[in-house]
Amino acid sequence: MSDVKNPIPQHVAIIMDGNGRWAKQRGLPRLAGHKAGTENLRRVIRAAKDIGIKYITFYAFSTENWNRPEAEVKGLMLLLSEFIDNETEALHKEGARLLHIGHLAGLGAALEAKVKRAIERTKNNRDITVLFAFNYGGRDEILHAVKNLIAEGVKPDEVTVEKMSAAMFTAGVPDPELVIRTSGELRTSNFLTWQTVYSEWAFPATLWPDFDGEALRALVEDYTHRERRFGGLGKSSC
Ligand code: FPP
Repeated sequence: MSDVKNPIPQHVAIIMDGNGRWAKQRGLPRLAGHKAGTENLRRVIRAAKDIGIKYITFYAFSTENWNRPEAEVKGLMLLLSEFIDNETEALHKEGARLLHIGHLAGLGAALEAKVKRAIERTKNNRDITVLFAFNYGGRDEILHAVKNLIAEGVKPDEVTVEKMSAAMFTAGVPDPELVIRTSGELRTSNFLTWQTVYSEWAFPATLWPDFDGEALRALVEDYTHRERRFGGLGKSSC
């Protein structure tokens, strides 16, 4: 396809939806879907790195996901814990830096310490930065940022977009140019509310465990042909 309008995105963010339906289609418990979804992370991270994406964010557990049945919540915590145990060294070898956005406190002292160790272990890697949104909510993040600015003594007329961005969990990370929500659901679900105001969105029907590197490549390719106008008129309207 010709007529490339954008370079490949630096930052792609993904809402990994459809694990439950993937499991149901196979007559399996919901947690089997989350497990398959977790196993999918490695191949998508590798594909992202090969494509040249520098930041990839995965929405793994929202501030509202605490409302799910206790067994599912516990299962998701265990999957995060096992993922760190099993994948941190491989990701480190691939040059991946791991970051967390959201509230680590709330996951329990042991899991919090484990996540911090993985972040510390990979902190000097720059081939790709992998952000896990876990116990994360976009509104919560904005409230947290505002409270921090007030606590720092920033006066109302000193509040700027730059200061707000720097007070987000994503400080220093460019806003995602492309956000993908798998499974065909058309909602943003409290994900990166501040950072996605001018992101391009894609809603593939594929359920998350079936989403692969080829699917990522195709959506990135599609993104490069989109006209981004940022509220202006864009070249084709002039
Ligand atoms: C949405 O699917 C998915 C989630 C709420 C959890 C996603 C989490 C993972 C893939 C694993 C997280 C682990 C790590 C290592 C970060 P759904 O359950 O809402 O699916 P449904 O809409 O089909 O029911």
